[in-house]
Amino acid sequence: MMRRVLLAANWKMFKTVPAALAFGRELLRRYDADAYSAIDVMIFPTALALWPLSQRFAGSPIQIGAQNLDLGTEGAMTGALSGYLLREAGAEYVLVGHSERRQHFGEGDELVAAKVQAAISAHLHPILCVGETAEEREREETLAVMHRQIGAVLQGLATYDAIKLTVAYEPVWAIGSGKVPTARDANGVAAAIRHQFSEQFSSEVADSIRILYGGSVSPKNIREFAEAPDIDGALVGGASLDVETMVAMMESLVHQEGENGG
Ligand code: PGA
Repeated sequence: MMRRVLLAANWKMFKTVPAALAFGRELLRRYDADAYSAIDVMIFPTALALWPLSQRFAGSPIQIGAQNLDLGTEGAMTGALSGYLLREAGAEYVLVGHSERRQHFGEGDELVAAKVQAAISAHLHPILCVGETAEEREREETLAVMHRQIGAVLQGLATYDAIKLTVAYEPVWAIGSGKVPTARDANGVAAAIRHQFSEQFSSEVADSIRILYGGSVSPKNIREFAEAPDIDGALVGGASLDVETMVAMMESLVHQEGENGG
């Protein structure tokens, strides 16, 4: 099955609203609709920039997502942002369970699973982030950790909801560190994740799910990861903050597409 390649830019707690808009203007100016038609480009700005940036990208193929969501729809929940509010602010996707949320905000598997359900109820496409720590990797627990993190989410998910998921495999030790696994190792983990979907649902579901690699992705290495058979794109932090490097990564993916026979 041909899955479209996805390039997702996670801006984390960076960029003011004006800076996000300036990036958006420049990206649109550089966006070559014909050349980039084979890839999906998605930006995950701060929640503050969702609405203005979605207005800026209106009518273009560039999509917008949120970095996190809270449970519920509307209510007395000071400081919280529900999937419904994010969706109405222009988000179509949402990251769930990013390792920084797990680490700094105490999000465990159960909450992550509830957030995936909440995202789907709000008609958002969840990008479920999973990954092992350096210690877990040392102990050769990578696959067991993936199985646990993904199992918690898949349990209780209907097939028609499972196909709405994207998974981002992001080894915690690779995020922002400049260290990366080999594309072969990352592909092995992606293949194991796909296998878990096929066991829980079906091989059709497993084949249709997009699995991204994330962690120190750059214009230099993105192509190698995206060429791996079970990897369908990248979730990029640091390298996505600069429009030049963002365009360089898009170029790299496009050339990969062309060379594969398109
Ligand atoms: P990085 O972050 O590309 O800066 O390593 C990736 C992520 O956290 O999604």
